[in-house]
Amino acid sequence: RLRREEKAWKINNLAKDFFQSILLQHSEAAAAREYIHGRGINANIIKDFGLGYAPASWDTLMKFMQSKGIGVSDLLKVGLVVSGDRGVYDRFRSRLMFPIADARGRVVGFGGRVLGDGLPKYLNTAETDFFSKGKILYGLDRARQAIREMRYVVITEGYMDTIAAHQYGMANTVASLGTSLTKEHGRLLMNYTREVIIAYDADAAGVAAAVRGLDILQELGCRVRVLSLPEGKDPDEFLRARGLDQWKRQVENATPLVEFKIQRALAKYNNGPLARDAVLEEVLPALAAMPGELEKNEAIRLVAARLFTSYHVVAEQLQKFSNSNR
Ligand code: CTP
Ligand code: MN
Ligand code: MN
Ligand code: MN
Ligand code: MN
Repeated sequence: RLRREEKAWKINNLAKDFFQSILLQHSEAAAAREYIHGRGINANIIKDFGLGYAPASWDTLMKFMQSKGIGVSDLLKVGLVVSGDRGVYDRFRSRLMFPIADARGRVVGFGGRVLGDGLPKYLNTAETDFFSKGKILYGLDRARQAIREMRYVVITEGYMDTIAAHQYGMANTVASLGTSLTKEHGRLLMNYTREVIIAYDADAAGVAAAVRGLDILQELGCRVRVLSLPEGKDPDEFLRARGLDQWKRQVENATPLVEFKIQRALAKYNNGPLARDAVLEEVLPALAAMPGELEKNEAIRLVAARLFTSYHVVAEQLQKFSNSNR
């Protein structure tokens, strides 16, 4: 099993270097270099994150690998080539390549972005035992030291969000690659910190994905806060438009999970006459899951204030909720 994984890491690493040499040197990658430049990515980031370019042809990578003694069956296993109607061919073509590494920097897969508006926007390595987005946080290998030093992590949706954050000096940033956070993500993070800031896109998909991940993290014992960007923006766009200082302010002002839930529930029930009970019902699970007594008490006070009721009423409801879920 380990032997097989080691082989896969080696092949992926070789592919990473190959894609990068094409990006940096090949005339066919001129448009890709132009694209990267247009998005503000600098040369250090290209190196640090191992960005590359997969050329248009159907077999450039396959031929390169064969020249290194790596055969089609091994390439099929790691998902760099696929088998279809036209035989076996390179999976990634005409795409900007983002190697995806595990926490120890071993390349387990790739994401490839079209240079224009084509679909799919990102093509990723197919899910296997070996590669699963639910178990990987993009950028963690480059972020883990900064996460320890800064004592919190910022989780974004996308490749470009994490890359922008690192370029601007917030190296404690990772990406969940569009998927909602999983228990595995949470456990991975808890090797480094319990302080988590969610910075997903300010669009319907991003908010929905964030909401699904929050409870999982809190149940694991993380302290979760949610950063809300201006409508429609993502961290990459925000950083490049407004700069590091304003981004840091967003991070510092991120909303604690319970407060975030109250705001959402209040908006949903439109502050109507039934709002208090409904909001309470939605917030109780988050309250119950809070690890520390001190924090929990503070949160109960906050909920009470927001709902114009007493600490006692909220505490009593929480007690009932906790008893019924034993
Ligand atoms: N994603 C994916 N496949 C897609 C679309 C998205 O895997 N077809 C993942 C990628 O990891 C992407 C993340 O979800 O980075 C967030 O998606 P989105 O916000 O749509 O893309 P951005 O990261 O903002 O990409 P860009 O800035 O390049 O447009
Ligand atoms: Mn998005
Ligand atoms: Mn983006
Ligand atoms: Mn985005
Ligand atoms: Mn988008």
